[in-house]
This record gives sequence, C-alpha cells and structure tokens, in this order.
Amino acid sequence: MHQPELYIGLMSGTSLDGVDAVLADLSDSSPRLISKHYLPFDAELKNELLALHHPDHNELHRSQLAANRLARLYAQSVAELLAQQGIAASQIEAIGCHGQTIRHCPEHGYTLQIGNSSLLAELSGIRVVSDFRSRDIAAGGQGAPLVPAFHDKVLRAPSRHRVVVNIGGISNLTDLPPNAATSGFDCGPGGLLMDAWCMRHLGQPYDADGAWATSGKVLPALLERMLDEPFFALPPPKSSGRDLFNMAWLEQKLAGDEAAADVQATLLELTCQGIARAIREYCTGAQDIYLCGGGAHNSALRARLATLLPKCAIDITDSLGVSGDFLEAIAFAWLAQQALHGKPANLPAVTGARHPCVLGAIYPA
Ligand SMILES: Nc1ncnc2c1ncn2[C@@H]1O[C@H](COP(=O)(O)OP(=O)(O)O)[C@@H](O)[C@H]1O
Ligand SMILES: [Mg+2]
Repeated sequence: MHQPELYIGLMSGTSLDGVDAVLADLSDSSPRLISKHYLPFDAELKNELLALHHPDHNELHRSQLAANRLARLYAQSVAELLAQQGIAASQIEAIGCHGQTIRHCPEHGYTLQIGNSSLLAELSGIRVVSDFRSRDIAAGGQGAPLVPAFHDKVLRAPSRHRVVVNIGGISNLTDLPPNAATSGFDCGPGGLLMDAWCMRHLGQPYDADGAWATSGKVLPALLERMLDEPFFALPPPKSSGRDLFNMAWLEQKLAGDEAAADVQATLLELTCQGIARAIREYCTGAQDIYLCGGGAHNSALRARLATLLPKCAIDITDSLGVSGDFLEAIAFAWLAQQALHGKPANLPAVTGARHPCVLGAIYPA
C-alpha cells in the first residue's frame, strides 16, 4: 500500500503579513497539498518584527521574546492545520519552518531567521527543521533564493521556456529554460515598499489590486533615482531584503513635494521594472511567466508586467495546479524532507555557493 510521507511547511516572509502553513504528502515526486492555513500577525507583533530589522535598544533580548511569540503562533498554525484534517502530530515527519528574517547580510557572512524551533518542537510534538539559509552562506552563497530548486522540481516544462516570479515583500525569479540549467535570483522590491507607503498614508497593510497606485501617475525622475540603486544593475547571484529596501531608502529618494498617490504609482512601476528588466536581461527567450506570492493578486501589477513584457504570456502558478499563495510554504516542507533525507537542496548556480549543501538544522520532536 502507498505510504504517505506527511510534512508541514511554515512560511512567514518579508511582507510581515502572517504565517502561511501547509500540510503536504511528499511521498511522490509531485507533492500533494492536503490542507492550507493562514494566520495573520497582529499589529503589535508586526511592528516589533519591523523594529528588529534595525539596531536599537536591547535588541538581543527583544528578538528572543519575539522568537518565542513566533513559535507560539507557528504552533497554533500547526495545531489548526492538523485539526482541519483530524491528523495526529505523531503522523507528521517534520515541520519545515522558514522562520522570520530580521537580518539578511550574506556580505557579512550571516542571515538571521528567528522563531525558536526548540519551543515549536516542544509545543507541537513534531520534529522541526529550520535555519535553511545559513549553510549556503557558509559555503559562500547568498543563502537566497532557495525556492528555485523547488520550482525546478515541480514547474519545469519540457518544451516551454517558463519563468516563475514570486512576488512577496521582495520579488525573486526562477528561469526554467527547456534545454539549459535552472537559474534564479532576487529582482528587487516586491510589495514591501508599496505596503509601507500605503500603511503610512492610508493606514492599510497593502494597496489592494494596486487601486491607489492606479489613481496616481508615475514620476519619471523619482523612478530613475530609485532604479539607479546599484542592486538593480548587479549581476546574479544576488539577494535582497528589508536591509536595503526600507522606508529610509525610500525617503532618501523622495524630493519631499510628491503627491502620495504618485509615489505609490512610481513604487508599483519600480517593482514591475525590476522584474521586467531581470527577465529581459537574464531570461532570454522566456515564453511563459507564472506569478506566485501575494503580489500575484495585484491586478494593476499583472497588467503592467504584461505591457512591459509583450512577448510573454503572463499567468499564475495556480493554473499549473500549484497554489501561488502557498507555494513557498510547500517549498519549505520539501526542504525539510530534503534535509531529513540528507539531500542537498541549494542550487549553487542560483545562490553562488561553492557546492551543493544539505540545508537546515534539525530539532527532534
Ligand atoms: N489583492 C492584493 N492586491 C495587492 N497586493 C496584494 C493583494 N493580496 C496580497 N498582496 C500583497 O502580497 C503581500 C503578501 O504576500 P506574501 O506572498 O505573503 O509575501 P511574503 O512571502 O513576503 O510574506 C502583501 O503584503 C501585499 O503586498
Ligand atoms: Mg507572507
């Protein structure tokens, strides 16, 4: 009889919106999504996580307290996910937990995802695999993006040149040319600058469907100052985060007299230009673009990308049978399985690591 191999994947990304959780059967070469669950952060936790991105008073102590809060939230996600299906914790091989990035500094030899995996293992009674990025950095890589290996596994087509674009807080792409190796890198901001600007001016966590951005006009001089950021011209491997693209960065680029809606329009354009430029320069011959991540819901963004990339068909990964909102969580379930099986999971061509590595640290149940 077919024996399922059940894994849980937990993803909380740079957007700081909340926790995406999936239960998946990974016994087969194509993962089977059994159930999914989303738990948003409350405003207090979100603000503390945002604050921890910058040096501040007593940050070591505060980061550990935030890690404990995250672990409790992760455990709640896991409990609710299992309750949905009536599945016992003892049936789960492991939880793959990305953790919450509060610093990403491969140039200094480290990246930091918090989440207290010991506490999560204790509360859930399930083995936890986490800290997936550090080993790749130890091997000289960027530690990011890690999802291209999973895209390579589940989204390749034998005769179509596909590109997968994940638009979270940061955007990253995976190039899947039919007769050549997979590559990938971070392209620039996804939604994080638009989210921050929207929160400041409208008090809302994101600009739904880019409606506010659409009400403004793109400011060419501001766009040019933003696109002058060296990150955009840097060849891969490259990765980014809130360490670079944050409110202070945006404020530096502003003249100060811009209308808020025009800034939002320009930020949407920046995200789209960052992605389109990356595809034009590094994904020659791309035919089909598949979007995933929360930014794929932004209809204005999708429309603008279609205009900037007239030779490509733009769709979402859901059309290929893989939920775009939960793709990264599924990828981290798979990364946990790779770790337990002792299989390397980084793609050196993507991250720049010197060699393939088994990723992650294992916390027994
Ligand atoms: N309807 C929508 N319109 C515009 N943006 C959206 C919409 N739904 C989600 N988003 C964006 O998606 C983000 C969450 O995406 P997610 O994939 O969870 O990112 P991360 O992995 O960084 O947490 C939100 O912060 C928001 O910017
Ligand atoms: Mg998220």
